[in-house]
Amino acid sequence: MSSIPTLLSSAVEAIAGVDPELRPATKPQFGHFQSNVALRLAKAEGKPPREVAARIVDTLDVSEWCEPLEIAGPGFINFRIKADVLAAEASRQLTDPAVGVVPTDMPQRVVIDYSGANVAKQMHVGHLRSTVIGDCFNRVLTALGHTVIPQNHLGDWGTQFGMLVEQILEEGLDASTFDLIKAEELYRRANEHFKEDPVFADKARKRVVALQSGDEQTLSIWRQLITLSVAGFNGVYARLHVKLTDDDLAGESTYNDDLAVVARELEESGTAVIDDGALCVFVEGFNSPMIIRKSDGGYGYGITDLAAVRHRVRDLKADRMIYVVGTEQTYHFNQVFAVCRKAGYLPDDVVAEHAGYGLILGADGKRLRTRDGGTMKLINLLDAAEEKASPPIALAAIKYADLSSGLQKDYVFDIDRMVKAQGNTGPYLQYAHARCSQVLRKAEAEQFDVPTKITVIDEPAEQTLALQLTKYGETVADVAETLQPHRLCGYLYDLAVAYTDFYENCPVLKAEGEIRASRLALCLATKRVLAAGLDLLGIEALERM
Ligand code: ARG
Repeated sequence: MSSIPTLLSSAVEAIAGVDPELRPATKPQFGHFQSNVALRLAKAEGKPPREVAARIVDTLDVSEWCEPLEIAGPGFINFRIKADVLAAEASRQLTDPAVGVVPTDMPQRVVIDYSGANVAKQMHVGHLRSTVIGDCFNRVLTALGHTVIPQNHLGDWGTQFGMLVEQILEEGLDASTFDLIKAEELYRRANEHFKEDPVFADKARKRVVALQSGDEQTLSIWRQLITLSVAGFNGVYARLHVKLTDDDLAGESTYNDDLAVVARELEESGTAVIDDGALCVFVEGFNSPMIIRKSDGGYGYGITDLAAVRHRVRDLKADRMIYVVGTEQTYHFNQVFAVCRKAGYLPDDVVAEHAGYGLILGADGKRLRTRDGGTMKLINLLDAAEEKASPPIALAAIKYADLSSGLQKDYVFDIDRMVKAQGNTGPYLQYAHARCSQVLRKAEAEQFDVPTKITVIDEPAEQTLALQLTKYGETVADVAETLQPHRLCGYLYDLAVAYTDFYENCPVLKAEGEIRASRLALCLATKRVLAAGLDLLGIEALERM
């Protein structure tokens, strides 16, 4: 449902013909919002702005929500929402179990492709972003009543398994006893070996063929590598409190049997052509073709994603597909989507979006690395944060940092700033929530029932807070549509700031009678919205801090 400011905006636009661009008023005496629409129109019409403003004010009927409109200065229109309307709207946040989030009237089946770690390697910080952002989309879309189908596109197939299995056999190891750290060490050894020893390299290549043709010994070692890796990833998911489970696993290998079928379909429909021995799809707007099958007959990452799209549309019946993968793969996904549209795997009524995200940078502005210059592992990052704060606060710090800057932007990992309970941080929001809880706890200790209605809101700080509370549902709907979690972060930050301002200017426990009751109700409404919003970000709302 739309908030009053949004309804107001539409009402003005219906009359003025342009977006009134309502801005929060600069001073309480100007009401809640101000618009310069009359000044803009006056210029185009060559009329005095105040005259244009008067015309708009005379035609506009917003008396349901607003006090009589005022024209100020050169022709600004001031809007003041009626206090009782605001109080009634904000009161709904107290009783509505969904705290103002209205279920969509067009529920969709939404596939979200996220996490996608690679077998026999630890998750790196890029996978952190994918996992945290994907989890947030999952929560937001679910809250709106969509059916979310997470797909964890694990990197569990490819030529690297030839050398991994070969190395295990050569060293006579039992991979079933490995953890992810050991597997990664093995990966490094196998890689070195492959580069230095042509005989080993040759055996590794033959091992790839054995894997692909279903050799049982090879497959069983490959399976062990997957099992141990998934166990490691699940440990990380548990630590991150994300919703992914084994049911969501749909690694590259699940598409093995489909690859030859896809290649044939593409060739038969003329979508793909043989070029220099390789099967390729040329699509307009891309400077290189997509290689479907290499000249040696091998399949790669590209066709696997075509098969995944085909499966997600045909079998999972996706209406919308969201890929949470780093911006380095933007070209890849644009090409995958274009090829799939051309091949008919992706009908016009199915939306496919690449929600690309930027890098996590170190203080030097370069890709975040460990102290010895290695790639930063996700668990190193969690450990670093937990050195500075307790686990729920450390997690809030990391997740919020990940979600609160525009997705596409790179951001600097500054743990000292991120864990602070001041400024635009996750812990600041947790702190605001804990403060609401504290006030309510104290009231409860005095056997005071928290009322279910906000009744008096005369102070500007109360009104600003109430107004902000009413915008929650709309903000969540906006994130579902735009896939911009930073808007929810920004909303919650503004809410926490409005609460801080209210808390500093309006005594709650020291107030009396109806004012006290109403202010306590405002605290409760704020607590509910903060808790709900933090939950959508995957952040724990703490009762005490
Ligand atoms: N495993 C890939 C990586 O680590 C990410 C997979 C993304 N999803 C996909 N459908 N390609 O970069």
